[in-house]
Amino acid sequence: MISNIQTRKKEHVTIARHSKDADRRKYHFDAIKLVHRALPEIHYDAVSTSTHFLHKKLAFPLLISSMTGGTGADLAYINRNLATAANAVGVAIATGSMRILLEDPAALPAFALRQAAPDVPLCGNLGAVQLNYGVTPDQVAKLAEQLQIDALFLHFNPLQEAIQPEGQTQFGGLTPKIKTLVATLPIPVIAKEVGAGISPSDAKRLMDAGIQYVEVAGSGGTSWSRIEYERDMTSANPGQCFQDWGIPTPDALRLLQPFRDRITLIASGGIRTGIDMAKACILGASLCGIARPLLEPACQSPEAVIQHLQNLQREFHTAMFLLGTPTLDDLINNHTLLIDYQNHA
Ligand SMILES: Cc1cc2nc3c(=O)[nH]c(=O)nc-3n(C[C@H](O)[C@H](O)[C@H](O)COP(=O)(O)O)c2cc1C
Repeated sequence: MISNIQTRKKEHVTIARHSKDADRRKYHFDAIKLVHRALPEIHYDAVSTSTHFLHKKLAFPLLISSMTGGTGADLAYINRNLATAANAVGVAIATGSMRILLEDPAALPAFALRQAAPDVPLCGNLGAVQLNYGVTPDQVAKLAEQLQIDALFLHFNPLQEAIQPEGQTQFGGLTPKIKTLVATLPIPVIAKEVGAGISPSDAKRLMDAGIQYVEVAGSGGTSWSRIEYERDMTSANPGQCFQDWGIPTPDALRLLQPFRDRITLIASGGIRTGIDMAKACILGASLCGIARPLLEPACQSPEAVIQHLQNLQREFHTAMFLLGTPTLDDLINNHTLLIDYQNHA
């Protein structure tokens, strides 16, 4: 099945919402055990979950990860609800892929979210492989200016493109083009996967190209191999075989730990609760991204998204209280909070 971007994006959202298998529900973070404090020696209200990202204050370290890169009233409604809720609660937000904007300027209203989110980091998104299909740094710079974004998420999705019937798979020779893009844009470029993780050697290559932020988007949550498979469920489609391919998010964080002094780590892929967020921070993440769990609330209303975000914040705050960590500085990369660390210390 070959479809245009708009039709494809709608299919993606429909499958992501309704398929029982699109979210792999591996719950990899459940294997991580933390040191509960019966005597935390802090008041619950003394815990501060706030942090800064891209020079803006966040109520807690959450990013609404890139979603819905299409156009049309329904996708614009989803984006607006996410942006309005992000601003109301104080979390960062990234749009889905802006590629359609390069082909169809009528898609602009779905991406012009600065008015809805004036106070929080608002980021754009583009597939890195597009740099091999004619997209130029100047085009991207113009879009960034037009949308008033604080950073660009550059996604790497070779698995998805390999499975997608109309996938663009020319991933060779990308690194120098990434380097030029990073040097051209006046805003940071953040490298991200879409659910298969980023390895240490890739992170190293990205750092050499000037990248200073990595969103791991590891496996265990939404699977793009599975979603593409469900668009074309034939025995010849390898998407089912690869549905759990990738580096599980906690492993990806551990593997990238040695680079923490040179890159800001964002954890994502299967993060579902405030406890998962606390564990990701302990493994070295400065920020946590969540995508699919926010899709259904975003189809309803801004209030539904706000409620979901507030639940996450309460869970995260409670985890910090029970770990006896009053600030994020006490939590992030603090391996003494892991039971495994205590056993081996
Ligand atoms: C409906 C939907 C659309 C998405 N679109 C994009 C996209 O345009 N660009 C991108 O980099 N990632 C996209 N993603 C991937 C997410 O940003 C995220 O990396 C992935 O879903 C794993 O996080 P999760 O397990 O919390 O869903 C999309 C995810 C969903 C659910």
